[in-house]
Amino acid sequence: MPLTLSVIKADVGSIGGHIAPSPELLDVVERTVAWEGAALLLDYRVSHTGDDVAILMTHEEGVGCEQVHHLAWEAFLAGTEVARRQGLYGAGQDLLKDSFSGNVKGMGPAVAEMEVEERAAEPFLFFAADKTDPGAYNLPLYLAFADPMSTPGLLLSPKMSRGFRFVVMDVAHVEGDRVIELEAPEQLYDLAALLRDPERYVVESIWSRATGEQAAAVSTSRLHNIAGKYTGKDDPVMLVRTQMNFPATGEVLAPFQIAPYVAGGMRGSHHQPLMPVRLDSGTSYFDGPPCVSAAAYSVHEGRLTGPVDAFAHPFWDMVRTRAAEKAVEMRRQGFFGPAMLPMDELEYTGIVEKLRELDKRFRVRAAAPAAVALGLP
Ligand code: 13P
Ligand code: 13P
Ligand code: MG
Ligand code: MG
Repeated sequence: MPLTLSVIKADVGSIGGHIAPSPELLDVVERTVAWEGAALLLDYRVSHTGDDVAILMTHEEGVGCEQVHHLAWEAFLAGTEVARRQGLYGAGQDLLKDSFSGNVKGMGPAVAEMEVEERAAEPFLFFAADKTDPGAYNLPLYLAFADPMSTPGLLLSPKMSRGFRFVVMDVAHVEGDRVIELEAPEQLYDLAALLRDPERYVVESIWSRATGEQAAAVSTSRLHNIAGKYTGKDDPVMLVRTQMNFPATGEVLAPFQIAPYVAGGMRGSHHQPLMPVRLDSGTSYFDGPPCVSAAAYSVHEGRLTGPVDAFAHPFWDMVRTRAAEKAVEMRRQGFFGPAMLPMDELEYTGIVEKLRELDKRFRVRAAAPAAVALGLP
């Protein structure tokens, strides 16, 4: 029976603004999963990154299983109830529909799932990012799975040398899943041409070309595409299997040292660096900076061992310091230029209304007086 790894995450309320969920909220989510998932799940873990609560589950029900999704939905509803009782901010923020209808995809929560034939040793990484969107993983995934300058395994391992297949989604298309498959290394430039635009094109999954096994799964939902208005950022989760025919754990982690500028931070409307943080971290500076945690697990017959906190190592302190410097540097220019997202990505309608109002006040000036005097056209 293949094993399914499912992670479903949602922001259902947080303390002091968009910082972190309360211990009581996490506790009720965990107890709901434990109680209602007893006969369904092989194992589970509940964690948070920033204000987002993630439920990691192992089971044998396959991807998109209604009972598994329903369980997560119920757990988030229970968390919402606690958030309301505690006056937490944004209670039920990511639960965009009133009632559950078969699958949480398109209902607000982020989902990353994959079905795997469990290897004798099955190490994987669970990434959760807050105050950013799914395209934030484009660069680290490109480097880890397609660039031998970053991942020596692409040169050293015969299976990895056959390359990887990337499935990329056009997240601007809301009527259905619009995807393209690209093969690395042959179609590297095509891949780069899409991944350079992380607000539009998002890596959804990665597959080994040598064995056909799935290596990575990313949540691709864009909340403002679902809701049609600002509802919070589309804080993404990702599962990546490592070692053997896949990049080593360290090869998957390494690109995160770049702390690249991503869309996110304050009001989901800025460019800020993606800071690797410890598990169960909150947010702070400028409602951010955008952050990513990495939980390393091993799984055997569906039982999880871990997590080990992959960004807790002292190496990442240097990266955090540099990310903080990058954050401040970008903030020095306030609303100007690339500090703020382009108009069509801004999460607030207020500025759109303001510009519509201003637009009416523009006038096309009559021919300049000097030109008229000279008889010029
Ligand atoms: P070990 O020899 O510690 O198993 O490491 C293998 C390796 O090269 C990982 O990158
Ligand atoms: P969340 O999407 O994490 O709730 O953040 C909202 C926001 O934009 C805070 O400034
Ligand atoms: Mg929030
Ligand atoms: Mg969040």
